[in-house]
Amino acid sequence: MKILVINGPNLNLLGSREPEIYGSDTLKTIEDELLEFARNLNQNIKLEFFQSNHEGCIVDKIQSAKDFDGIIINPAAYTHTSVAIADAIKAVKVKTVEVHLSNINAREDFRKVSYISSNCIGTITGFSKIGYKLALLGLFESK
Ligand code: DQA
Repeated sequence: MKILVINGPNLNLLGSREPEIYGSDTLKTIEDELLEFARNLNQNIKLEFFQSNHEGCIVDKIQSAKDFDGIIINPAAYTHTSVAIADAIKAVKVKTVEVHLSNINAREDFRKVSYISSNCIGTITGFSKIGYKLALLGLFESK
């Protein structure tokens, strides 16, 4: 089972970026912990990680993911603006789970709108880095 894990803009700064909201772990630590979790869940799960600050690069990556069994995506700020990322997810027809570290529904009004959610099988928001593990579990159990 091949899963693509995409992180959007500014998530490369995790660890130092607003730790009171996003936690103090770096993206590398979160990815390593997810790898460990995947290994314990099932030896056949393969993860690929991708982070970009650029909307078009994220669209390109999603378009190239047709042979993956699932996508876990934290689109970060593009959650609230990107029709292009939402359309790409719809176009590739790969099961996708949207993840947010913070609870976007408990923050500013503009964060309560997600262009992505309606093209995903589920959204996990507010469980910090554990959200990525919950997303993987969800994809694994719904395979
Ligand atoms: C985020 C929430 C977004 O609103 C924000 O722009 C981010 C991170 C989260 O993981 O909580 O960059 O997606």
